Amino acid sequence: MTFENLLYDCSDGIATVTVNRPKALNALNEATLKELLCLFTGLKDEAAVKVVILTGAGEKAFVAGADIAEMQPIDAVTGRQFALLGHQLAATIEDLPKPVIAAVNGFALGGGCELALCCDIRLASENARFGQPEVNLGVIPGFGGTQRLPRLIGKGLACELLMTGDMINAAEAYRIGLANKVLPAAELLPAAGKLAVKIASKGPIAVSFVKSALRDGLETDLTRACSHEADLFGLCFATADQKEGMLAFLEKRPAKFAGK
Ligand code: CAA
Repeated sequence: MTFENLLYDCSDGIATVTVNRPKALNALNEATLKELLCLFTGLKDEAAVKVVILTGAGEKAFVAGADIAEMQPIDAVTGRQFALLGHQLAATIEDLPKPVIAAVNGFALGGGCELALCCDIRLASENARFGQPEVNLGVIPGFGGTQRLPRLIGKGLACELLMTGDMINAAEAYRIGLANKVLPAAELLPAAGKLAVKIASKGPIAVSFVKSALRDGLETDLTRACSHEADLFGLCFATADQKEGMLAFLEKRPAKFAGK
């Protein structure tokens, strides 16, 4: 796959997607959003890919937000369309039946923080900075920040970040649960790779059901969510992976999952 604003690599079941506009700190213009949407849509049916790592090019930024130069002159209708494009991308990443790990290697601001928020796991380098600085620009987050941030870190902390536009460092992001782990910059991608390999070694259908149970369950009441979990648990027993996983345990050997 070749793109103007993205780099793509896939080996041993792990795809790495790199937003590649380092001169603009990987800001998301419309073209980059469309490329990300196209790539993540295609990954759904890419059997060779089990886990995806999403990161930014260069040493300074994951993604420093939506592209301010491109947004500055647009009108209300175009602004809404731009936000809907960001939402479509976020939903596509959340609906992808494979885990997506954000390797946050610097600034993750505005749309960049929102991009990290729709990933399943966030690892941060020590120089990572998170924030929703939209109020500094006279706007609000447009790619889901007002919704996903409070769902992840709680309403009060999210409110403070969203209303002040303050940036927080990696240690603070870890403390409040925005980052799962903080690593020295040089260790970020190797750590993301190691985590991806570990997850890729598990039953892929079970891993995708975990993602589905979390995604759908957290958006509904506990009774329905638990019913959905029971449905998915039952469905596991229709897979060869369940037979193999449990047999392998009983035979005291590693399981060989076929993803079937
Ligand atoms: N859009 C467009 N260009 C951007 C950008 C963005 N979000 N962020 C940085 N850049 C560009 C700068 O304009 C600069 O370009 P030039 O070299 O051509 O001047 C280049 O990237 C390097 O940036 P700086 O010189 O500013 O680097 P710095 O180290 O001094 O500061 C920074 C880094 C604090 C991240 C600063 O660039 C910054 O504040 N960027 C904007 C962050 C922001 O407000 N993001 C939210 C955007 S709105 C949004 O995302 C809405 C939404 O939810 C959809």
